[in-house]
Amino acid sequence: MTLHDIYIEERLKDELIEINVKDRKLKVVINQGTSFGGNHTTTLLSIEAIKFIINTKLITTALDLGSGSGILAIIIKKLGVLNVSASEIDQLAIKESKLNFKSNFNHKKDFPCLITDPLINEDKYDFIVSNISGSFLPNNLLKISQIINPGGYLSIAGFNIEKEKDYVRIAKEANLQIIRTFKKTPWISMIFQRNV
Ligand SMILES: C[S@@+](CC[C@H](N)C(=O)[O-])C[C@H]1O[C@@H](n2cnc3c(N)ncnc32)[C@H](O)[C@@H]1O
Repeated sequence: MTLHDIYIEERLKDELIEINVKDRKLKVVINQGTSFGGNHTTTLLSIEAIKFIINTKLITTALDLGSGSGILAIIIKKLGVLNVSASEIDQLAIKESKLNFKSNFNHKKDFPCLITDPLINEDKYDFIVSNISGSFLPNNLLKISQIINPGGYLSIAGFNIEKEKDYVRIAKEANLQIIRTFKKTPWISMIFQRNV
């Protein structure tokens, strides 16, 4: 992370976020705080990508890389994925994530698992979601691809639509093929599949 990458989303009160999934509404509580991950468009486009993947593919292991408030990890878990990990470098966000996990799950065993350094660990995932702006994603796409199971999926966000072609090109070099995008000007989320 560079000194310019500041991830703050000021929530002055606890928020109940409702997400339409097929014929039901998924409810997520995000407590008052400043960690990123509530109503920002990049978060909402990442949620669209998560819904698409989980409604159409078999996913049993997932990682939220750059989890902020923990919102994406919470949603993936609530959508029924068994093993969900979350990775975050900001201690304040980690503290707020833990509180948000408590507010959304009755039992600790259901919390997403907070982990460190997934890019240098041995674990691999069926699905990774990462909403991080700046140079982290383009600089690390190959490493991220290497911790996705063959045939697994990656959703990225945190950048503008004008970067779409650049990401398709870099991702191809990292063994990832574009399968879907979600757009709301000026933002985009992109889903890739790792080659088998
Ligand atoms: C834009 S926020 C996204 C938060 C949430 N996932 C969402 O979609 O709303 C990016 C988060 O990634 C974290 N981050 C940045 N670089 C990271 C890295 N190398 N590993 C883990 N987390 C990182 C930041 O601290 C920040 O909380």
